[in-house]
Amino acid sequence: MYSLPKKVTIIEVGPRDGLQNEKNVVPTDVKLLFIEQLQKAGVEEMELSSFVSPKWVPQMSDAKEIVTNVKKVGRQFVLTPNKKGIDLALENGAKSVAVFVGVSDSFNKKNINKTTRESMNELKPLVEKLIEDGYFVRACISTAFYCPFEGAVDPEKVTELCKEFVSWGVQELSVADTIGMANPKESYALFHTLINEFPHTLITAHFHDTRKMGIANIFAALQAGVSRFDTSAGGLGGCPFAPGATGNVATEDVVNMLHKMDITTNIDIDELLNAVDIISPYVSRPIETGMYKLFKSK
Ligand code: HMG
Ligand code: MG
Repeated sequence: MYSLPKKVTIIEVGPRDGLQNEKNVVPTDVKLLFIEQLQKAGVEEMELSSFVSPKWVPQMSDAKEIVTNVKKVGRQFVLTPNKKGIDLALENGAKSVAVFVGVSDSFNKKNINKTTRESMNELKPLVEKLIEDGYFVRACISTAFYCPFEGAVDPEKVTELCKEFVSWGVQELSVADTIGMANPKESYALFHTLINEFPHTLITAHFHDTRKMGIANIFAALQAGVSRFDTSAGGLGGCPFAPGATGNVATEDVVNMLHKMDITTNIDIDELLNAVDIISPYVSRPIETGMYKLFKSK
């Protein structure tokens, strides 16, 4: 019989992954209210925004206002792929930085305009310096299962890339099914390998939910020993450079499942739904939370 953790950490990625693919420009003050309400709900770790080219991802062009105006409780990440973004993150007071790279070259080229190797060569000295200076660095690994351009990705290539990041000293690896095509067998196998290979590094799973296998993949990763998950309030999300990818698994669905299985998250689901209500009128896709509200406090 498998064993499950007693506590799971949710890394809320709604303000970043959730909104980056959203066509409607969400006003900065609404994003700040959303983040504040997520913190009030008990979210301790969050991706707030990203420092990326405002031409490539206009929705994230207010990253500076977001990063400087939120309460820095717990780990509040800003995501970036390059030196310019890391410099901006530090100038604006970030203490925790998330860097990202794709395992497959074709995706990395579309996302960052570099090969995977070029990205890794740029990131190595920057990440090592961040670690030396006491910052918390999370490395986000995209296309860890499937690439929208190359198909299935070799798990050994994922482990090799993770090994490189770990050798630089990153404290966390967030390993992603970018286009939501992985199945629970693949999720268990990869996370079982990573948990055993990197016992001193936080291992986080990041699932998009394109084929509705996201929550099953989370359960498989839990069985493999993962106790950290990136999720997005309202199930928003997707990478603008990964065709066909849909939202992350909804935070409320994951928190609900975990609480029903007596696994704590420190998140208050009613307050979390209040955060979904803040963002819902500003996004183009409908968010379904009616059943949770019906059963509220029951
Ligand atoms: P480029 O055009 O090759 O680079 O883009 P560049 O150096 O010529 O820069 C273009 C412009 O952007 C310049 O401005 C730079 O200064 C500026 P201009 O001179 O034209 O006015 N710039 C920046 N501005 C702010 N912050 C920066 C930055 N860097 C350059 N950091 C670049 C290369 C990487 C910039 C571009 O490709 C880019 O911004 N890509 C970001 C793509 C992105 O945000 N994707 C989504 C996030 S990853 C993701 O969602 C996956 C994840 O969720 C896990 C998963 O699910 O797989 C994490
Ligand atoms: Mg993502």
